[in-house]
Amino acid sequence: MSNFLWGVASSAFQIEGHVKNDMTQWEEEGRFKKEGKNPIYGLGANHWQLWEQDFNLLKELNVNAYRFSVEWARIEPEPGVFDEKAIRQYDKMINRLLELNITPMLTLHHFTHPLWFHSYSPWISKDAIHVYYRFAKKIIRRFSEKVPYWISFNEPLVWSLAAYGDGQFPPGEKDPQLFMQALHNMLEAHNEVYLLLKSYNPYAQMGIAKHFIIFKEHRSWFLPDKGVANRLNIFFNQLLPQAFLSNRLQFRFWPFLNYNKEIPLNNNIDFWGINYYYRLHTRFRFNLKQPVKLLHKNPQTDMGWEIYPKGLKKIIGMLENTNKNIFITENGIATNDEGLRETFLKNHISVVKNALQRNNKIKGYFYWSFLDNYEWLEGLSKRFGLVYVDYDNHYKRTLKRSAQLFADLRIFE
Ligand code: BGC
Repeated sequence: MSNFLWGVASSAFQIEGHVKNDMTQWEEEGRFKKEGKNPIYGLGANHWQLWEQDFNLLKELNVNAYRFSVEWARIEPEPGVFDEKAIRQYDKMINRLLELNITPMLTLHHFTHPLWFHSYSPWISKDAIHVYYRFAKKIIRRFSEKVPYWISFNEPLVWSLAAYGDGQFPPGEKDPQLFMQALHNMLEAHNEVYLLLKSYNPYAQMGIAKHFIIFKEHRSWFLPDKGVANRLNIFFNQLLPQAFLSNRLQFRFWPFLNYNKEIPLNNNIDFWGINYYYRLHTRFRFNLKQPVKLLHKNPQTDMGWEIYPKGLKKIIGMLENTNKNIFITENGIATNDEGLRETFLKNHISVVKNALQRNNKIKGYFYWSFLDNYEWLEGLSKRFGLVYVDYDNHYKRTLKRSAQLFADLRIFE
């Protein structure tokens, strides 16, 4: 069997339904509102009930791997109180994947928390590390022998920015120092559960799925545009890999941020997960309130994101100095145009195939997403899936045209 993981990805909250967590509460309070609209979570894609039929669809996609996450709020509804029934269902799911010869990659934290979390042990406090560790231990102890690939955090920098930087996610703070503090604690928490996983199963691998963006100056003749692109690249793309290499979390972006602290990570990470979607163009403005404007150019997806396959090659190159394995843990497009999704798939997968010829660290590719799902601020309106979900008709699933192409493009290594 091929060693290269060829898969699709999802996250628990975005597809499962039947759960109350910090995001559903946020939505109920109307805090997610964007342009006057509140997203609708409802039952997500109702995967908590339909998972068995969904896993049969995985076979039709010709995958040998599946990236998914467990929903913390379901597993630990009260601090320190675990729901055995929920854990058993995840156990059944993992067993079924193994029966189908599909390798599980499990994410422990993908943006959501139990209802009690932010008042009990927010990420800006060290308590969060112990509380996350207790939850992770429950899952790792149970599944470390069955699950070979683990992700401690999905996009910790994006999450902490949304939660503490621009206040879009709960707890909705806007303070750059708090944002760095939360991020710092998440990285320490990663380190702890990394060591924990190794103590249960030294062969299991753990990484972080990190969002990468290509930053390009809007006007090539205007140096400040380039300066901003460079700073953002260092901040957004390189901050975490550098922290693992140097045991320091540091970034200075005058006059907004100045953070410089030791963090003993000792390069304790087995792989970097690349979540790659788009390129942004940077425009500097002589305006202290908003000195940087970020622009999306064409061609665009339904999210308004520029489609730029070459960026994936650049990101892979950027990670070469870490000398760690690489998985593309997310790459995908929201569109109702199947022709566009097919072109997106062909172009991005061809970048991966070419990169593989000289980089033997690339170990897998996961398309985002398996099913149409709940897209945070956008609700159910944006369709990333290879499988169509009819929300108005019993959540009926239909393979999209691009699903066949995806199955045919499979990389065997
Ligand atoms: C996140 C997903 C999200 C996707 C598309 C990634 O940043 O991990 O949860 O759905 O992007 O926006």
